[in-house]
Amino acid sequence: MKAQDSRVLLTGATGGIGKSTARALLGAGASVMLVGRSVPALESFHRELTGEGISPSRLKWVPADLTRHDDITRLASESARLGCNVVIHNAGLPSFGPLAEHSPDEMAAVLQTNLLAPMLLTQALLPHLQTLPAARILFVGSALGSIGLPGYSVYSASKFGVHGFSQALRRELAGSGVKVQYIGPRSTDTGFNSAAVQAYNRATGTAQDSPEVVAGAIVQMLEDEAVERVLGFPEKLAARLNGLAPEWLDGSFRRHRQSLQNHAATTRVART
Ligand SMILES: NC(=O)c1ccc[n+]([C@@H]2O[C@H](COP(=O)([O-])OP(=O)(O)OC[C@H]3O[C@@H](n4cnc5c(N)ncnc54)[C@H](OP(=O)(O)O)[C@@H]3O)[C@@H](O)[C@H]2O)c1
Repeated sequence: MKAQDSRVLLTGATGGIGKSTARALLGAGASVMLVGRSVPALESFHRELTGEGISPSRLKWVPADLTRHDDITRLASESARLGCNVVIHNAGLPSFGPLAEHSPDEMAAVLQTNLLAPMLLTQALLPHLQTLPAARILFVGSALGSIGLPGYSVYSASKFGVHGFSQALRRELAGSGVKVQYIGPRSTDTGFNSAAVQAYNRATGTAQDSPEVVAGAIVQMLEDEAVERVLGFPEKLAARLNGLAPEWLDGSFRRHRQSLQNHAATTRVART
């Protein structure tokens, strides 16, 4: 689908990848409905964009907490009213650390925001999208939705879930006008990653992309027919190998475990 023909509902629009994606989409000619929880953040981003010369007719912002069913229903009717033909599920919560450190509430919030919310929003939007000659649903997953690393058990559970959901739905809707796509960015330089994650990335030699690189890949995916894409090398290769024979990779994570143990030790000291 050409960007100029896209009327995009973009969740997580006030975050690092979301802002860059909104800018890239608008730059390519799309109209964008910005979604986030914080009204001041949405207002200020909207002001920034119109100040940069984006016509207000191509921009709208809608506050919504995607963990609330009422908000999902409201968002779905608003997108139908505005004739959105593209949905980018980008909102997400981070989660990092040994499993023992995660509270049940935190695990529930991560699964609800990263997995259940995009599932429910997709379900609510489908009746509208299926009336259109062409529509796209793009899920922003993660490289960690294809490969599980020490420290990411909860996060990977949510992103593997999104990956599986998008794949099954793509096959369910094949032959209809609704195309389903999935993109798995690798670590990206946004406020999403805590100091602990940055230390882990340094210790394990994990590279980071800029949010602009991810945004460019998202716009490119919308404009072509790719169905699934993991960003970055060696992440792309590791995801493929892990899909073929995960046990081949099991011996590769000593540095990751060591960094995680250091993180756990620091957290324990900070708590005493
Ligand atoms: N950064 C990375 O290293 C990385 C790598 C791979 C994949 N990803 C994925 O890329 C996506 C964007 O990440 P990012 O780095 O841009 O994160 P970010 O800067 O922390 O932004 C997260 C966005 O999600 C929104 N959000 C969170 N909970 C929400 C809720 N309950 N309802 C509505 N909106 C909610 C936030 O909005 P408010 O808090 O303002 O409401 C914010 O706009 C996420 O799905 C993430 O899993 C990130």
